[in-house]
Amino acid sequence: MKNNIRTKFTICSLLLSSFCVNAQTTILEVDATKTIAKIQPTMFGLFFEDINFAADGGLYAEMIKNRSFEFDKPFMGWDQPNTKRSSLNKESGSATPISLSANNTNFCRVEINNDQGFALLNEGFRGMGVKREAKYNFSLKAANHNSAIKKIIIQLIDKDHKVIGETGIVPKSDQWSNYSAQMTATQTEAKAKLKITFEGTGTIDLDMISLFPEDTWKNRKNGLRKDLVQLLYDMKPGFLRFPGGCIVEGRTLSDRYQWKKSVGNVEERKTMMNRWNVEFNHKQTPDYFQSFGLGFFEYFQLSEDIGAEPLPILSCGMACQYNTGELAPLNELDPYVQDALDLIEFANGAVTTSWGKIRSDMGHPKSFNLKYIGVGNEQWGPDYIDRYKVFEKAIKAKYPDIIIVSGSGPSPDGEHFDFAMQELKKLNAELVDEHYYQSPKWFRENAGRYDNYDRKGPKIFAGEYAAQSVSGANPNNRNNWECAFSEAAFMTGLERNAEVVHLTSYAPLMAHEDAWQWTPDMIWFNNLESYGSANYYVQQLFSTNKGTDLLSITKDGKPLKGQNDLYASAVKDADSKEIIVKLVNTAESAQDVSLDLKGAKLGSKETIIRLVSPNTQDENTFADPKKITPKQSEYKITKGNQQLNLPAYSVTVLKMKMI
Ligand code: AHR
Repeated sequence: MKNNIRTKFTICSLLLSSFCVNAQTTILEVDATKTIAKIQPTMFGLFFEDINFAADGGLYAEMIKNRSFEFDKPFMGWDQPNTKRSSLNKESGSATPISLSANNTNFCRVEINNDQGFALLNEGFRGMGVKREAKYNFSLKAANHNSAIKKIIIQLIDKDHKVIGETGIVPKSDQWSNYSAQMTATQTEAKAKLKITFEGTGTIDLDMISLFPEDTWKNRKNGLRKDLVQLLYDMKPGFLRFPGGCIVEGRTLSDRYQWKKSVGNVEERKTMMNRWNVEFNHKQTPDYFQSFGLGFFEYFQLSEDIGAEPLPILSCGMACQYNTGELAPLNELDPYVQDALDLIEFANGAVTTSWGKIRSDMGHPKSFNLKYIGVGNEQWGPDYIDRYKVFEKAIKAKYPDIIIVSGSGPSPDGEHFDFAMQELKKLNAELVDEHYYQSPKWFRENAGRYDNYDRKGPKIFAGEYAAQSVSGANPNNRNNWECAFSEAAFMTGLERNAEVVHLTSYAPLMAHEDAWQWTPDMIWFNNLESYGSANYYVQQLFSTNKGTDLLSITKDGKPLKGQNDLYASAVKDADSKEIIVKLVNTAESAQDVSLDLKGAKLGSKETIIRLVSPNTQDENTFADPKKITPKQSEYKITKGNQQLNLPAYSVTVLKMKMI
């Protein structure tokens, strides 16, 4: 990063003209006469995984933790002050009523024997974020034995137990019935709790106790958190990869992600432990479970909402190799392969097909137009290749147009990577997923990674990457500016190689301030607020300025990939009729650049968007969420070469209209 060419030597007057440049000026040539490759609409996308409370406690706006009492400790998240008179009942032949279903066996039986004020309290996901004057939708299932309980009182309480919202329900039936009510919060509170009390004496059974803000993304009932989806939408992402990540694989095969268990009625979606719950000793989150309220239907719907191609990744019959590495024998792979085939039918099949009908019954008769499917997440070794072949054969036989994503393992190089690449090339794999969690220096030094990739070989999906300020998955990693601008430097290399790199995504996407396991993450949130890290804004700059056609930008005939700590890429946007140049200066001082543009006539005023911060350790925070955000200004086009001063540690996007 040290800028070693900063000896001042000016060969012309202080007035910079288009014909006279400073001796340190880097002269770049942009050739707009020819398109090197088309930029894929999927070039910059999103990787979503339910890690760091990204789904339950995050994107999925449910505020009650353990709403169905199905956590391993059934009262986790619930408190019962003043009493021991609530019990947990499981389905049993004789009990009346019986539990909701085989997938939801527990419910809470409350017995009120006197009027001492029994209460059930739910703590939410490290508290509940409520906003003054916002409305909250409460619902539950109840079976009121002999109509003994006259009223259920539902209250939001603040950290001092003051009531800040209240509503009530009159439970009428002794059979399981649905009840709902709405309340308005009278105060903003980040750590609210829900309190349930009862009038009358007797027994009542409760299940699926739920609370959602009314104000969700697209106002969907019991939907997704609006501020978080907005951040995703603002990225204009080309695709949405889901549901992970290692969560796809499971620590064992039985706790792999099974998409079929994530669709249909929410109360039928069997809750299970989230694999990130106990993954890291330094960050245990024993209260992390998956309710699957955000399941595959919702992922497809979210993809559609944000204009992204859906990209589901499925288990290939291998559990996480960092955990058990359990293998489904090759002759027992059928159910795994069938899951993939059925998923394509679920997404695209006519409403007359079995899975297409389920999609339609869930409210989406139209196809989701699935084009990609991933086989395995981050597997390695011959066992993976053997399983990939089986999936490839079956998927291509039935759905020849579906593009299959294969994986190259957890590292960008080394034995596993080399083996996978060699084998996948032999198999003519279409799209290979690469992962790299490396130092900022690695990102700066590898901006040329794809320059020599075989243009006729598999296309690349840089499916998980992020600069790690300390080391891979280290809890002290920060989303600092050095990481972000180093990723930007690297991304000029992704863009320059758009001929071979078709999809890219930062990972992981989201983290809850009080409940994360992995850092760095692109978006941070708590129960009230959210913000994009500097890395988010780097991603957004590239994604919203990706253009349609790759152009060449060179210094002395060579790509700019770190010479003088400078990086560059250029595209044309045929729709907006713009030339877009991205320039990254990773040096500790400003540098001058002169752009010699061939083959395009420009207007007079253009736009320059800049992301810059003076210190490498700077970062966005809840206290200062916009510290590092893009600033847009007008840029005056000069005759001849365009002169630009690139501040130290900066990412610049120059947008020039063609006339
Ligand atoms: O992004 C976090 C994890 O990193 C993913 O789950 C996994 O694929 C990778 O190892």
